Amino acid sequence: MARVFALSDLHVDFADNMQQMMSLSDHEYTDDVLLVAGDVSDRISRLSQLLGSLKRKFRKVAFVPGNHELWLRDDDSDNSLEKFSRLLALCEQLGVHTEPFKVGQNDRAVWIVPLYSWYRTEDADEYSLVIPKEGERWEKCLWMDKYRCRWPESLGADAYGPADYFLALNNEKIERRYDAPIISFSHFLPRKELIFEDSAMVKRFCEKDAFIPRSTRDPAPMFNFTRVAGCKRLDLQIRALGATVHVYGHQHRHRNRKIDGITYVSNCLGYAREREHLGAQVAPKLLWEDGVFVEPAEVS
Ligand SMILES: [Fe+2]
Repeated sequence: MARVFALSDLHVDFADNMQQMMSLSDHEYTDDVLLVAGDVSDRISRLSQLLGSLKRKFRKVAFVPGNHELWLRDDDSDNSLEKFSRLLALCEQLGVHTEPFKVGQNDRAVWIVPLYSWYRTEDADEYSLVIPKEGERWEKCLWMDKYRCRWPESLGADAYGPADYFLALNNEKIERRYDAPIISFSHFLPRKELIFEDSAMVKRFCEKDAFIPRSTRDPAPMFNFTRVAGCKRLDLQIRALGATVHVYGHQHRHRNRKIDGITYVSNCLGYAREREHLGAQVAPKLLWEDGVFVEPAEVS
C-alpha cells in the first residue's frame, strides 16, 4: 500500500537539518514515495548524500532543484544551467525521479509530475507575482541568487529569462496524457495568494494596484520577497496539466490551501531558527494513500 509524502527546503548544509533527515525512520516509508521540492544544498556532494539516504528510506524519491542548488561554487560549473544539467544527471545516476511516474495501479493510481520553475523579478508582466513594496530597493538588496547564480548569454538579459527557460522544459510533461489523478510539484510559488498567511491578507494584497506598505518592524526594508517568489505561468501549467494537488517550497511557510479546485501544499523543513514557528520537528507530509487524497485543505 503506497503513500505519497512531500517535503521541501531541507537545507542540509545545517547540521541540525541533516541530522533530522538522517534520523527519518529506515522502516516506516519503505513502500512510499517522497517528493522533495528543492533547496536541499548548493553543494552537489551533500545533495548526493541526502538523496542517496532518502532512496534507502523510501521506495521512490522525486526531486526538482531549487535556487540554492543552482548556486555556483569555485569548482562548480560554468553557469547555473550547466549545473542544472549536472544535477539531473546525478538524479538519474541515483535513481531519483525528475520525470513523471505513476504510483499504484488501476483506480488506485496517481501520477507524480515534477515541474521546473524560477521567479520573475519584474512587476510589469501579467505572469509576475510581484507586489510593489514601499521603500524597497531591489537593485541594492542582498539576495544571494544575484551573486551565486550565473546564466548563459543565450538566456537573454531580461529578468524573465530563467523563468521562461525552466517553464519551457515542462511543455512535454504538460502535453502528455495521464490516465490517473495528478500530483505536481515545483520549488517556486505558482500564485500570489500563497505568499500570504490568511484570507484577510490575500484580499488586501492580491487586489489590483495593491502595494506592501513600509513597516517599522520589517527586518529587511529593502527586500521584497514577492520579487523572488515565483511565476504565474507555472500555475497555468499546473491547471493545463489538471493536477489535483500541487506541492511547492521556497518561502519556508506551511500551507494547505484549496484555490479554484486545486490544493496547494507547502511543507518545509526550513532553518532551525524558523522552526519555532514551523514546529520543532517537521516530518514528511502525507498527501495521498492507496488511491485517496488526504484532505482537508483550507479553502480560499
Ligand atoms: Fe528557494
